[in-house]
Amino acid sequence: MAPNLIDSEVVTLSISDNVAKIALHSAPVNALSKALRVGIIDAVKYALANDAAKVIVLSSQLPLFSAGADISEFSDTSDMQPMLPDVLDVIERANKPVIAVVNGNAFGGGLELALSCHYRISHSKNKVGLPEVHLGILPGAGGTQRLPRLVEAKTALDMIVTGAPTPVTRLRGVFDVIVDDVTQLENGVTEMVDKVIQSGLETKPVCEIDLNMDDSTIALFEQYEQGVAAKTKGFFAPGHCVKAVKAAYELPFAEGLKREAELFMECMKTSQARAQQHFFFAERAASHVEGLSRTAQARDIKKVAVIGAGTMGGGIAMNFANVGIPVVMLEMKQEALDKGLSIIASNYQNSAKKGKLTQQQVEERMALLSGTTDYGDLSDVDLVIEAVFEKMSVKKEVFGALDKVCKQGAILASNTSTLDLNEIAQSTSRPEDVIGLHFFSPANVMKLLEIVRGEKTSDDVIKTCMKLAKSIRKVGVLVGVCFGFVGNRMIEPYGREANRLMLEGATPEQVDRVLTKFGMPMGPFTMGDMAGQDIGYFVRESRREFIAHDPSYCVVADRLVEQGRVGLKCGKGAYLYEKGSRKPIPDPSVLEVAKQEAERLGIEQREISDQEILERILYPLINEGADILQEGIATKSSDIDVIYVYGYGFPVFRGGPMKYADEVGLKTIRERMQFYYENHGEHGKNWFKPSSLLEELANKGKSFSDFK
Ligand code: NAI
Repeated sequence: MAPNLIDSEVVTLSISDNVAKIALHSAPVNALSKALRVGIIDAVKYALANDAAKVIVLSSQLPLFSAGADISEFSDTSDMQPMLPDVLDVIERANKPVIAVVNGNAFGGGLELALSCHYRISHSKNKVGLPEVHLGILPGAGGTQRLPRLVEAKTALDMIVTGAPTPVTRLRGVFDVIVDDVTQLENGVTEMVDKVIQSGLETKPVCEIDLNMDDSTIALFEQYEQGVAAKTKGFFAPGHCVKAVKAAYELPFAEGLKREAELFMECMKTSQARAQQHFFFAERAASHVEGLSRTAQARDIKKVAVIGAGTMGGGIAMNFANVGIPVVMLEMKQEALDKGLSIIASNYQNSAKKGKLTQQQVEERMALLSGTTDYGDLSDVDLVIEAVFEKMSVKKEVFGALDKVCKQGAILASNTSTLDLNEIAQSTSRPEDVIGLHFFSPANVMKLLEIVRGEKTSDDVIKTCMKLAKSIRKVGVLVGVCFGFVGNRMIEPYGREANRLMLEGATPEQVDRVLTKFGMPMGPFTMGDMAGQDIGYFVRESRREFIAHDPSYCVVADRLVEQGRVGLKCGKGAYLYEKGSRKPIPDPSVLEVAKQEAERLGIEQREISDQEILERILYPLINEGADILQEGIATKSSDIDVIYVYGYGFPVFRGGPMKYADEVGLKTIRERMQFYYENHGEHGKNWFKPSSLLEELANKGKSFSDFK
C-alpha cells in the first residue's frame, strides 16, 4: 500500500500507479465543514503538483459519500473561506481528470462536489439528491447550474424543487459508470482509471457543456413557474429553485453561478430559511434528553401487547408489525377483537391495492398480529400499550390487571390523551415502569409520539421509549404530565378562540381561511368537523368546573353538537357536507346559532379583521406554550415546535409556534396579549393574561430559544 502523503483528521492522500487517491473521512457524514473544504483543496493541489499522479480519484472512507454542507456553520459565516464553490472550482478546472467515487448517499453539497468532478461512478442501490429546499434555500455551490447540464430539465427541476433523494439508476447522465453493487466499485474504478488514461486523460468539465432552451424546455419552465406556487403552498424557496435552474439555460455558466448565488442569498435572508433550519436542528435535538442517568440502559423490546383494538389500538399495533415486532392485542370481547383485527387487515389490503405493499408483506405483517381476551397471554411481553376508553376507572382496572400478569421489567404504557399518568401509575406496584406513549391519530400514519414522563418513571424506561420511537419511525418528544400534555393543552386556546370569534361575528370560513393562509393544512372548524365535534364536547363535559367562569366558552360548538351536528361523519357540523364529499360548504344556519348565542350573552357582533383573528388564535396558543416551558412540561421550546409540526401540521416554514413567536418578537406577542387583556372585557381578563415567562423574556429582549 502506498504511504499517505497527507493524513489529516478528515482527508488522506496517497499516490501510486499514476493515481492520486483522496479519501474523505470526516465522521460521521463527511459534512463539508471548513476543515474538510481546506483538506480537499490541499489534497487536490498536492496531486496536481505531483508528476506521479495522472488521475485523481476522490472517494469516501465512510459508508456515505457526503451528506452536504455543515449546517451548523450557517449561523456564523464569519470564517467560511474557502467556500464550497471555490473548492469545486479548483476541482473542475484541474488539468488532470478527477473521478468521484460515490459509494453511498451524496446529498446537497456532497452531490455538488461530485458534479464538479470530471467523471462519476456509483452503484445501482445508491440514491443522491439536492435537499436544500427543505432548509428554505437552494443548492448554492453550482448544483442548479451543473445538474441540468447532465440530465433532462424535468429531472433537474424535480430533484431541486422537491429535494427528494433520487436513485442513481435514474441519473445515467450524471454517472459515467453504475456498477451493480457497492462491492464492485473498486474494480469499476480501476477499469475507469485505465480507460481515462488510455483515452488521453481528457478532463470533461461539466461547466463546458452548452445548454439550449428549445420550445419544449420553454413550455416545461412555464408549467413549473405556474404550478410551483400551488404545489408548494406558502413556501418561498421552491419558486427560486425554478428560477435558478432556468438561469442554467439562459445564461453562460459563470453568470448562471452568479445568479444562483443571488437567489441563494435571497432565500437565506428569509424568515422561512431560518425557520426551516431551526426545525432541522429541533427535530434532532428532540431525541437528546438531558439529565438521564448515564448508566441507564435501554431495555430490549421484542414483543408488544396493545390493550384495546379500537381506533388507536389498531393503528398503534400496525406500527410494530410494520417493523417486524410481534404484537398481541387484547380486548374484553371476541367480537371487538375480530373487528379490530379485520380493520387492520383491510388497512393493509388498501395499501397493497395502492401498490405501497406487496401481498407477501401484507401476509408477513398480519402474521405478526395475534389477538386474545385473556390477560394470561401477556406474561411474556416486553411492552404493553393501553388504548382503552378514556376513563380513569377503566384505565386503573387495566393497569391493575397488567401489574398482576406482566413479567418484571415489562414497560406498562398508556395512550391516554388527558388523564393523570401518575394516578394510573399508582394503580400498579411498579410506577417506575409506567410511561405515557401518546400517539396521534391515525396512529399508523402520524409521525409524532409524545412520550410522557411520570413522576416515578425510570430513566431506562424513558431511554427505551425514545429509542423505540425511532425504531417505529416516529419522532419521539419527551413531555411531562399535565392535562393534555403539550400538544392538546396548547390546542385548547386555539379552539376556544376560534369559537369565540364566531360568537363575535367571524364566520367559520373566514377563520379557516386566515389559518390556512398562515400555512395550517386546515382551519380549526374544518379540523373540528373532521375529528368530530362531539370529541371536543366530551372533553368540555369532563372539565365543566374549569370553564364555568366563562359562559361564552365554546357555546356555539356546544349548541351544534346538541343539534346532532357532530361533523363530517354525519354530513354537518360547523359546515355542511354532501354525501361522500369532504368539501366544507358554509351554512348560514350556523351563523344564526352564533347570532342567537351572542344576543343571549350580550355580545355585540362586528366585523373582525384577519389580523385580529390570527393574533387571537395563535398568541394564546404561544402563551400556553410559554407556561408549559416554565413549568418544565416541555424542556425546550424547540420540542414544542416539533410537536406542533408533526402532530398538528403547523407549517414547517414557520418553524413551529415558538420559533414563529421568536420571529415575530416576544415584545410584540406580549404587547398584543396585554392589549386584548385590557381591551377585550371579561373575555380578555379571563384568557389573555401574558404568561410570566413571556413577560420576563420580552422584558429582557430575549426569545424562547434562549430559555433553557
Ligand atoms: P376506541 O373507543 O376506538 O377504542 C377503545 C377500545 O378499547 C374499544 O375497542 C374497546 O372495546 C376497548 N376496551 C375498552 N375497555 C377495555 C378493557 N377494559 N380491556 C380491553 N379493551 C377495552 O377509542 P380510541 O379513540 O382508540 O381511544 C383509546 C385511547 O386513546 C383513549 O385513551 C384516548 O384518549 C386515546 N387517544 C385517542 C386519540 C384519537 O384521536 N382517537 C388520539 C390520542 C389518544
